Amino acid sequence: MSMDFTDQRLSYEKGELSQQSVPTSPFELLNVWMDEAIEQKIQEPYAMSLATCGSDNKPSVRIVLLREITDTGIVFYTNYESAKGQDIAENPNAEVLFFWHELERQIRISGSIAKIEADKSAAYFQKRPHDSQVGAWVSQPQSGAVANREVMERKFEQLQSDYAASTQVPTPQFWGGYEITVDSIEFWQGRANRMHDRIVYTKESADGSEHWETKRLLP
Ligand SMILES: Cc1cc2nc3c(=O)[nH]c(=O)nc-3n(C[C@H](O)[C@H](O)[C@H](O)COP(=O)(O)O)c2cc1C
Repeated sequence: MSMDFTDQRLSYEKGELSQQSVPTSPFELLNVWMDEAIEQKIQEPYAMSLATCGSDNKPSVRIVLLREITDTGIVFYTNYESAKGQDIAENPNAEVLFFWHELERQIRISGSIAKIEADKSAAYFQKRPHDSQVGAWVSQPQSGAVANREVMERKFEQLQSDYAASTQVPTPQFWGGYEITVDSIEFWQGRANRMHDRIVYTKESADGSEHWETKRLLP
């Protein structure tokens, strides 16, 4: 059965973006847009699609949660031995995408990924709810096949009894944060008649120092 969506279209008219009005640093604009997404009560504004590509040259994409915006990049947490962890070990280049329909905005961030310091990962792991900590131990190796749900549930129950609610769950060596050091960020604001605003920041180096340049892109 086929489905035809060629008559489905929306007109985007909620905002605009001009090259003259954007701040010098993309992180400033990223923070402003993130604050607006939170204010507008967008569900899971932190959810972002993460695209990676290992040495097989086959791209993979999945959602992860943004956990921090630093001065140089963005941080998320995962299992280092997952399929994405394998991709990242083979090729550190990655891209991330946010789409906030309610604001008619898309943000596209690209850069290179590296593991964050183990101490920082452990500090975050220890802040997570007890059962999420147990869940991280159950999902090892993340992305590996499991015979059925029962196997997972038995492992969860076993670990819950090994680590009673009052017991500290050890931080797994195989779990932690990655930071994407940002090379470019594109901010997309939907406009009417497909005349969307696209402003891209790229990091440029000159005389040993780095700065951001902006360009407007055709929609
Ligand atoms: C809303 C949402 C949030 C998610 N957050 C994370 C996350 O922060 N870290 C993570 O490893 N997986 C997260 N996942 C699960 C991933 O999308 C994915 O299924 C998992 O990480 C395995 O991906 P991989 O096989 O490509 O490594 C999330 C999924 C959804 C739908």
